[in-house]
Amino acid sequence: MLDAQFTPQVPHTVRLSDYRPPDWLVPTVALDFDLAPGCTRVRATLTVTRNGAHDRPLVLDGQELRLLSLTVDGVADATQPVGEHLTLRLAGDTAVIETLVEIVPSANTRLMGLYASGGNLCTQCEAEGFRRITFFPDRPDVLSTYSVRMKADARAYPVLLANGNMVARGDDDGGDTHWAEWTDPWPKPCYLFALVAGDLQPLRDRFTTMSGREVQLAIWTAAADVPRCAHAMAALKTSMAWDEVHYGREYDLDVFNIVAVADFNFGAMENKGLNVFNSKYILADPETATDADFDAVAAVVAHEYFHNWTGNRITCRDWFQLSLKEGLTVFRDQQFSGDQGSRAVRRIDDVRSLRAVQFQEDAGPTAHPIRPDHYIEIGNFYTATVYNKGAEVIRMLYTLLGEAGFRAGTDLYFERHDGQAVTCEDFVRAMEDASGRDLTQFRRWYEQAGTPRVGVTLAHEGSTATITLTQTTPPTPGQPIKLPVHLPLRLALFDRASGARIGDERLVELTEATTTVVIPDVPTRPVLSLNRDFSAPVIVEHACPAADRVFLSAHDDDPFARYEALQQLALDTLSAEGPCDDLVAALGATLGGDDPAFIAEAVLLPTEAFIGDQAAVVAVDAIHARREAVRHAAATAHRDAWWAAYRGNADAAYAQTPEAKGRRRLKNVALGYLMATGEREAEVAAYAQFENANNMTDRIAALSVLANSDAPERTAALAAFYDRFKGDASVIDKWFSVQAMSSRADTLAATIALTRHPDFSHNPNRLRSLVGAFGVNQLRLHAADGAGYAFLADQVLSVDPVNPSTAARLMTPLGRWRRFDEGRAALMRAQLQRLLKTPRLSKDVFEMASKSLA
Ligand code: PHE
Ligand code: ZN
Repeated sequence: MLDAQFTPQVPHTVRLSDYRPPDWLVPTVALDFDLAPGCTRVRATLTVTRNGAHDRPLVLDGQELRLLSLTVDGVADATQPVGEHLTLRLAGDTAVIETLVEIVPSANTRLMGLYASGGNLCTQCEAEGFRRITFFPDRPDVLSTYSVRMKADARAYPVLLANGNMVARGDDDGGDTHWAEWTDPWPKPCYLFALVAGDLQPLRDRFTTMSGREVQLAIWTAAADVPRCAHAMAALKTSMAWDEVHYGREYDLDVFNIVAVADFNFGAMENKGLNVFNSKYILADPETATDADFDAVAAVVAHEYFHNWTGNRITCRDWFQLSLKEGLTVFRDQQFSGDQGSRAVRRIDDVRSLRAVQFQEDAGPTAHPIRPDHYIEIGNFYTATVYNKGAEVIRMLYTLLGEAGFRAGTDLYFERHDGQAVTCEDFVRAMEDASGRDLTQFRRWYEQAGTPRVGVTLAHEGSTATITLTQTTPPTPGQPIKLPVHLPLRLALFDRASGARIGDERLVELTEATTTVVIPDVPTRPVLSLNRDFSAPVIVEHACPAADRVFLSAHDDDPFARYEALQQLALDTLSAEGPCDDLVAALGATLGGDDPAFIAEAVLLPTEAFIGDQAAVVAVDAIHARREAVRHAAATAHRDAWWAAYRGNADAAYAQTPEAKGRRRLKNVALGYLMATGEREAEVAAYAQFENANNMTDRIAALSVLANSDAPERTAALAAFYDRFKGDASVIDKWFSVQAMSSRADTLAATIALTRHPDFSHNPNRLRSLVGAFGVNQLRLHAADGAGYAFLADQVLSVDPVNPSTAARLMTPLGRWRRFDEGRAALMRAQLQRLLKTPRLSKDVFEMASKSLA
């Protein structure tokens, strides 16, 4: 007999077209946990009701559960699970199913289901983790009200939390164990279930909602970290108020709890009334968190809070609809963040990461629409496409419908679908019905993968300007033919002589393959500003003279467009040989501006990866050399101005205000350029900044330029940083990252050595900080001998048995082999084949590797 385990099996593909409503509903669930890390018992009592007239059985999902007992309507039942299903044939239309199972949280390294982290117990159920806690129809369209009882050792787990409100608590065994009961009045899918037991302390606060209800807020963490929760708490209150003002959404429970845990696969989780966070997105103080960390904490806190309406009150019918909640919620958190500081800088940041990650995804082997139609492992679809392109699609609706039309659309969506599990189509229909606009063609954004390319030509004759816009979307795997999409393009014309805008900005809607825009009363050949504020997630192909880009970088009245003009000029310059004087002059002019936060973003050169994305074949070493040469030229040409920007923004006082953050950012960008001059004075300044910094933004910026250099202080600085912060996981993550991101020739050797460091582990943050960071180091990952690829594959294989979801995400860079020369491509493919040949590979890595090779 063949051992089934060793039979290579192609995992099952789940298809949207196979969706059927659930056969059985579960109106109520009662869970009783007897918690201990080595063995937890879960008793689940489900009331089930037949959904419609049919004679199909009740099928419950279960994974790694030991079934101890089963009763149906109080009668013992001997049915045993087969594979990952427990199938029950029920005679009547309703039944009460009771199961008792045993699970082992301390052995749960996948961090899905109930697991141990830092001495506490917590859960993660999205997408399909609830089946690792108890037998259940684990799908988002089964909504239930939950009551939860839990019991645990009182000393090890003094705090017992679950969704909703606590209704009772007490002691057992003379106080050695204690218990608590929680109920959540709002019906929810099981992926929003959560429970936490731990030795935690709260930072408490209150929020009064718009209808005057008082909500008790608490952020729970280890006692020592409570003071570092203040920024997250402030962000929570700001988000609660913001959602009332901008979307009319009020919080709906009497308590809102957040727990920070050290081991977490993603950023955070929106469980109803009990958000669980990766501690990286909660804890922040000036000593240990950068300005970017502070902003990320606020954005993630807002994101999870906003899910209470967009995700929880209205949830997804099936996992293909993931962007229904994620695209919309990312759009909402982006709007929120834009309101907290500089809207333009936030937009630049969002577009930069969209281009860095999502455009690559759209151009690669795992390209998928924001609503995918098949998957092997849903965990692989928590992607930049579903999240960030999904947010851009919502933003386009906002642009097309206008602020009031969009708000009418969300109002109708909330009114129509509150309490339901719905589809992206339901959302678009609400937008359509509320606004009266026909969104038939717009829906293609949900179906088509790939980044549209918009070609542009500008003609000028007499006093008429004619703009011709074409759109095409290149084929993606499984989608050879693409249709035109409905996309909003903001554009404006400028007068070359005066620098002034000619007339108003226009919003042009592209629906056809070719669109012509005729603009009268333009006496001289104008300069065209296109896709302003990045109104559509497309690649604009405009053979625009360098002089026009220089002009726009100085005169455009849309800050994003000014940034973009400089970026495109830089891309043109960096992708070619020859002089770089135009770019260097334009950088100098921008550096002379008066908004430090904007200047800092605008003068950053595109990354090596982004330069590579523009070419048919990524010339790894040539790109690095060219970029360094241009950086050196820009650094030396404006040496005095960089020093002035450096010294002039070196405030002694530290504040978390947009102004102070902008000045720090410019100072540290200037430091990067100063290092590029090669002057010893820059190294001395960097080391002094490293030693004297009173905040992490300045300290890590200095350490990172030193780590990227041959400065004599380099080794001492790395050692001093480690000694100072050892024991603080999020700071040590940064220490690993700056070394893995260095362009030095010894970076791979150093990275491999760091995998043997006592602080290296399979903690997801730590893996991302070292292996993930090395994976985006284009120069060193893509060393011509393939050693970088072998290292990445080694790590994937070592992580896969422990945590497949994290392993699968570490391997993405290998999937990009088609973009490299044949030598590198062959070496990358060899590593993917090596992965695929490994016995007992997870579904997660199998799906990524097989799609990458297809
Ligand atoms: N739903 C979470 C969010 O975007 C992300 C997440 C997915 C977290 C899966 C954990 C597991 O807010
Ligand atoms: Zn989310």
